[in-house]
Amino acid sequence: MPAKLIDGKAIAKQVKEELKSDIAELKEKGIVPGLAAVLVGDDPASHIYVRSKSRACKKLGIYSEVIERPADLKREELNRLIDELNNRTDIHGILIQSPLPKHLDELEAVLYVNPHKDVDGFHPMNVGYMLLGSPVYLPCTPFGVIKMLDASGVEPNGKKVVILGRGNIVGKPLAAILMQKWEGCNATVTICHTGTVDIAAETRQADIIVAAMGKDRFVKPDMIKEGAVLIDVGINRVDDETAEKGYRIYGDIDFEACQEKASMITPVPGGVGPMTIAMLLYNTVRAAKILTYENK
Ligand code: GUN
Repeated sequence: MPAKLIDGKAIAKQVKEELKSDIAELKEKGIVPGLAAVLVGDDPASHIYVRSKSRACKKLGIYSEVIERPADLKREELNRLIDELNNRTDIHGILIQSPLPKHLDELEAVLYVNPHKDVDGFHPMNVGYMLLGSPVYLPCTPFGVIKMLDASGVEPNGKKVVILGRGNIVGKPLAAILMQKWEGCNATVTICHTGTVDIAAETRQADIIVAAMGKDRFVKPDMIKEGAVLIDVGINRVDDETAEKGYRIYGDIDFEACQEKASMITPVPGGVGPMTIAMLLYNTVRAAKILTYENK
């Protein structure tokens, strides 16, 4: 029997629907949640992501400002821009779209962001709170993965989860979240990376696999156990002359090949992607509350 599809679009829609009452409540107090996205350089994928995030904000009544700067932006100029955003009362969330051009240090930029406005959850203070089990903002993609599992009735408690990839945006924070003694977490977590000797030996034991290493259709049926839940965070653009756009988008999991063996699987696109955006909106609404009345 083919795997059940985990519909990220539908779950994201539900998350956004639930945010409407919070946004209305804020509006009654004269507060419009505001998100500023800083986009440096001309990475085409980043432009697409930021546009999607901005469009989603506007649709929900969240103020959105995209601040574009050229690839040769100086570090002092970026720091000054972040400072200005930190000081603006109409902006509650700030995101610095990654990757930054090579001459800019992502950690330095994130350190400049007021941690209360760090809706990406990338500031070391927020990473620390998360690791210690007292999160303020959970990073959007791992947060989205947790939400998807929950909405699909998958209970990670007591399960073996294998995460492929140890990036700062997905792999590391997702491991830190899933290992917590929280509802919807409490899993036994393994992270595989370039130092892992036999990745397939690890994934074959997994009840849940989260692929986030950026390798086109890497996970094959012989690497998974029967009935595994497969979450695909990968977005890989593969040139294909037969495709209308000249390329196709594939995940890190071979969807076609694995869907017969898995019990549940996320599509790419339409899986984790919409969830990342929904959780960013969630964090922005939360930031608006934290910065205005919740902590006063
Ligand atoms: N680049 C890829 N994913 C993300 C994300 O979630 N936030 C930011 N700021 N940059 C990214």
